[in-house]
Amino acid sequence: MNYTRDSFHSRIGFVLAAAGSAIGLGNIWGFPTQAANNGGGAFVLVYLIVTVLLALPALYAEMYIGNQAQKNPVGALQDACKNVSRNLGKWAGLFGLLGAVLMLSFYSIVAGWMLSHALSPLMALLGFTELSSWLADSSFARNLAFTPIFIILSALIINKGVHAGIERWSSRLMPILFVLLIGLIIYILQQPGASEGVAMYLQPDFSQLKNPQLIISAMGQAFFSLSIGVGGMMVYGSYMKKSADMGKLVISIGALDTLIAFLAGLLIIPTLFVAQHMGQEVFVDGQLIGGPQLIFSVLPTLFESMGDIGIYVSLVFFSLMSMAALTSTISSTEVPVAYLVEDKNLPRTKATAIVSLIVLAACMSIVFNFDTLFGLVITWVNSFQLPIMGLFYFIVVGWIWKRGNQLNDAALLASKPSLKFWGNYLRYVCPAMLSVVFINVLMSL
Ligand code: PHE
Repeated sequence: MNYTRDSFHSRIGFVLAAAGSAIGLGNIWGFPTQAANNGGGAFVLVYLIVTVLLALPALYAEMYIGNQAQKNPVGALQDACKNVSRNLGKWAGLFGLLGAVLMLSFYSIVAGWMLSHALSPLMALLGFTELSSWLADSSFARNLAFTPIFIILSALIINKGVHAGIERWSSRLMPILFVLLIGLIIYILQQPGASEGVAMYLQPDFSQLKNPQLIISAMGQAFFSLSIGVGGMMVYGSYMKKSADMGKLVISIGALDTLIAFLAGLLIIPTLFVAQHMGQEVFVDGQLIGGPQLIFSVLPTLFESMGDIGIYVSLVFFSLMSMAALTSTISSTEVPVAYLVEDKNLPRTKATAIVSLIVLAACMSIVFNFDTLFGLVITWVNSFQLPIMGLFYFIVVGWIWKRGNQLNDAALLASKPSLKFWGNYLRYVCPAMLSVVFINVLMSL
């Protein structure tokens, strides 16, 4: 098909879109819970180290491959692997695409919960009390209604394209998200009990550093948080000019993602202690409540106990969650859509519709078999899909991809010692470190 490839129009638009993909439920829910249960400040420290040493290089590798190929992840990996085998690249690309659909299959369900919880206080304000409590109570019917609503929201943005859809909406939603988050933190920190939470969050329990599980958890969290391994960052990189300095951009994206995760910890952990102060049970067997109970039971009960203001706090909190989720689902949706448009010559609207239907089918398989599939798919994506793809990106950038790869260009490397160091780091150190952690992940399953 003869068409000009859509692209991001500005560096800031690109950074906000990629940060939007990165900043999601993983930051606002996953990070604080992990921090609370893995030694507070000690987890934050290990997380920072793993992010800098391993996750940011993986993000760089993923984005750089897409950026230089200026193609969707299947085409980009095919190009990068052409010295060895185009088929290897193609299958790796398709594996990433499968990962994107699997990520969407559980993430859209959870995002639907956030959306219904955001609408619940709104309905209460409008006087629809029954509808409001239906929206706040988890049910099969609510999953059937809200998962498709969320998929449609992502589809509407994706259908508009890269500039008019992804870039525009990320640039709108991300600043709002930031303001809402800061506003909530300021409010919560003034409530009784909050300071105990701040202390628990920031005081490192260094005895936890001896626990090997800590590094595994931190790495899983860092890869998921930076959206590494499903091709979403690769496809975003491909919509950026080839001359862009990917290294600098990756650092900005990583910094924003880490900042928001850190701030989310400053919101969630003190909030739990405020809830405790109000008489709620927030520790189970010495561990802080983490899973769905934290977000969908402890927090709503706390908001209710705050009286009228609680309705607004709840509205703001769950709107924040919904926005964070939406800017993450669009990047994963773009992966298969870009593939269908570029490699299968489908018009964008048709590609978006097909992908949305596939995602809907995957979500519904989970909704109908929730107890067996939900946890399984999450474990597959987190413990297997993301690290193995990260490892593959390192091998591609460090070893397989030769022409057009600045990290494999002998003349360039000879003239720039810093590039040479960076090249060797990606080629030897990163895959070795990642393999060690990955083997440990597999052994801990
Ligand atoms: N990074 C997102 C989060 O933190 C999740 C995500 C993973 C998004 C993989 C896209 C791809 O919630």
